Amino acid sequence: MTTALEQLQKISPETFPRHVGIIMDGNGRWAKQQNKPRTFGHKAGVESVRAAVRFAQQHGLQVLTLFAFSSENWKRPEQEVSVLMELFMLVLSKEVKRLNKNNVRLKVIGDLSRFSARLQKKIQDAELLTEQNDGLVLAVAANYGGKWDIVQAVNQSLANHQNNQITEAQIEEHLSLSEFASLDLIIRTGGEQRISNFLLWQAAYAEFYFTDDLWPNFREENFAKALLCFVNRQRRFGLTGDQVENAKN
Ligand code: IPE
Ligand code: IPE
Ligand code: MG
Repeated sequence: MTTALEQLQKISPETFPRHVGIIMDGNGRWAKQQNKPRTFGHKAGVESVRAAVRFAQQHGLQVLTLFAFSSENWKRPEQEVSVLMELFMLVLSKEVKRLNKNNVRLKVIGDLSRFSARLQKKIQDAELLTEQNDGLVLAVAANYGGKWDIVQAVNQSLANHQNNQITEAQIEEHLSLSEFASLDLIIRTGGEQRISNFLLWQAAYAEFYFTDDLWPNFREENFAKALLCFVNRQRRFGLTGDQVENAKN
């Protein structure tokens, strides 16, 4: 039997998504399955992050946006939140050099003001170090909320344009990730079929792929399945199927 990874090799990379967002869900349940504390699942999830980045690079994706911590996740038990913060610090310290060597540009999106000064500095340093890289853009959404993003974009638009009529283009200009390719595909692991305040505006015409795989089990083969599914979709953007087909010829 051919694997999804093998099948993908036969498909023209031009049809691959340019920008993929992943809602990395299911760490807690993965840990629970093995009678381990939830934080064990978060730690195990780091290996899946590495695999996803590797996959994105190997398949020429332009942008990979990973949902690491939502603006609602602060409501979790204090101990879990602090482990997640420590993990974030640790991963930044350990992985940034390698990302830089691999020509990856790191961006962290979200309301960073709620993080400790130490973590904010680490983020800033990592972004600065990788700023000139022109390979994969790895965007990490931390203390991110899609509603927050829209509100901050509207506020920036109001400040920059002295009129009281804000246009879609102005909002778009100030949204997180506005300088990169638009979002093509959202993958959510862990079986839930919801957006949980991820990239709301940016998701307007993204394709969705839901899988029951729990995040710590998600590897290149699982990512390949999502891409195979994506390349077989017809994106119509409001047109009819015939219009889309005719435009190709
Ligand atoms: C996703 O896994 C990671 C974060 C939200 C930080 P969860 O921790 O939500 O795992 P489940 O959904 O409880 O299994
Ligand atoms: C979404 O997962 C946030 C991240 C993956 C970081 P959650 O597990 O927090 O989402 P809900 O609460 O089940 O919707
Ligand atoms: Mg969850």
